[in-house]
Amino acid sequence: MEKEKVIAMDGPSGSGKSTMAKNLADKLDLTFIDTGSMFRTLGIVLDRLNLKEGSDEEIAQALANLNIEYMPTADILISVDGEDFTDKIREHHVSELASIYSQKPAVRTFLLNFQRSLAKSRVCVMEGRDIGTVVFPQAFCKFFVTASSDVRAQRRVDQLKEKDPSGTYNFEEIKADVEARDKKDMEREIAPLKQADDALLLDTSNMSPEEVLNKLVEVSKAKATELNINL
Ligand code: DC
Repeated sequence: MEKEKVIAMDGPSGSGKSTMAKNLADKLDLTFIDTGSMFRTLGIVLDRLNLKEGSDEEIAQALANLNIEYMPTADILISVDGEDFTDKIREHHVSELASIYSQKPAVRTFLLNFQRSLAKSRVCVMEGRDIGTVVFPQAFCKFFVTASSDVRAQRRVDQLKEKDPSGTYNFEEIKADVEARDKKDMEREIAPLKQADDALLLDTSNMSPEEVLNKLVEVSKAKATELNINL
């Protein structure tokens, strides 16, 4: 079967895969696509419509009326009906909304089609949970990025401290949060977080960002050459 011109980068939250996918896309001059931002955006939009308990039909109908745009301008990551969600999706409570609504079949189907349409016209590095398994099972290059929950919780604490240096953060609570979210992502029925059989596992717990980027570039280029894909 023909390979798709996508580099799939999956893994749990806090594994650093967003930064890595972005660095890789910059290095190879490809488009970076952050699918978590889409689940976060729809989490907010659907919650405003009070659809937490909504049926699949109700959710599908609500989604059919939305005009969702990914990177409509250089400054906007994602918008819906002209409203910019770039900053709103990074608020703390949105993680929970994204996690809840990402379990709805109608949401996953809608975003599956949206993500596939984005990759039609360009080679991209797409980052998420199910890119190599469900969205692009024929992606020519797949990575599964992870790190220990201690390392991921510490990265989260560092991020929060950078945003608000005067805040106090409980490491154990944050670690429990990270582990609970992994469990939910791995145990959900549709498109759970799972390493694709043909994905390269990259544990970044003891790797510097430079080491990770070098490895990603090396493997992507080798795969592209092997499969005659022009990056
Ligand atoms: O990567 P993130 O933390 O921004 O993702 C937010 C939520 O969306 C998270 O609970 C997992 C979910 N998600 C998903 O189910 N599938 C994806 N491809 C990307 C994110």
